[in-house]
Amino acid sequence: MTVNDSAVEVTNASFVYGKLKALDNLSLSAPRGISYGLLGPNGAGKTTLIRLLVGLLKPSTGEVRVLGQTPGGKMAAQIGYMPQQPSLYQELSVAQNIDFFAKIYGLKDKPARARRVEDTIKLVDLWERRGDGINKLSGGMKQRVSLACAIVHNPPLLLLDEPTVGLDPELRAGFWQHFRNLNRQGVTILISSHTMDDAAHCDRLAFIRKGQVIASGTPEELKKATGKPDADLEAAFLHFVRREDKKIV
Ligand SMILES: Nc1ncnc2c1ncn2[C@@H]1O[C@H](COP(=O)(O)OP(=O)(O)OP(=O)(O)O)[C@@H](O)[C@H]1O
Ligand SMILES: [Mg+2]
Repeated sequence: MTVNDSAVEVTNASFVYGKLKALDNLSLSAPRGISYGLLGPNGAGKTTLIRLLVGLLKPSTGEVRVLGQTPGGKMAAQIGYMPQQPSLYQELSVAQNIDFFAKIYGLKDKPARARRVEDTIKLVDLWERRGDGINKLSGGMKQRVSLACAIVHNPPLLLLDEPTVGLDPELRAGFWQHFRNLNRQGVTILISSHTMDDAAHCDRLAFIRKGQVIASGTPEELKKATGKPDADLEAAFLHFVRREDKKIV
């Protein structure tokens, strides 16, 4: 596979905040058109990695490529980014927030933009609430607005930082149905999560711990590596954690 076949290519990337090494010589590669999950505990480095891919941070060492290019600059329009903490304008309505992001991502034609904003609001099932200010919404509704802002410009790559946190099971299933539709249209989705439910939906996973990828593969491959036929992904994660700990001792 050449670099250009990958939607995301990270090669020996490290990132330090002051003295703290948040990413430690991390490499991963996500092919186009799939859902790729980053799984790992609090502080593992998932958000830091996503911020490198968006171009908000630069690697201290190593290389990061998205859609074959260096993140940032003109690449921004090709990426849909959903931050871990929704960054929405509280005083604007649902529709105004989504329209704002559509505008900054370059949807200049007003009627076309209005149609796209309308379609996106319906997609996240907030049509009835489109005129409400963000501060009137529940947490799950804010998540849906945040997702709408990330996808409104139809980007080929979505970088979603814990998009399903706080969603009820029905909404979570709805998000995944939508993610899978996007994959079928060729969109690549990189998603961070703590939940094994999200992990099970992904085509490929990277288990991340202490800024390193401790294992990667399909959910089936990772479960199989435990050697136990009934292992779930949680057991698989623990299997690789223990293997790493043994290496250190
Ligand atoms: N702005 C910052 N300044 C200093 N240290 C930071 C900063 N942001 C993150 N860190 C540290 O970097 C490490 C990785 O954090 P990061 O937010 O990438 O983890 P995460 O995997 O996204 O965790 P979570 O699951 O809690 O969101 C942690 O040790 C964290 O304390
Ligand atoms: Mg995070």
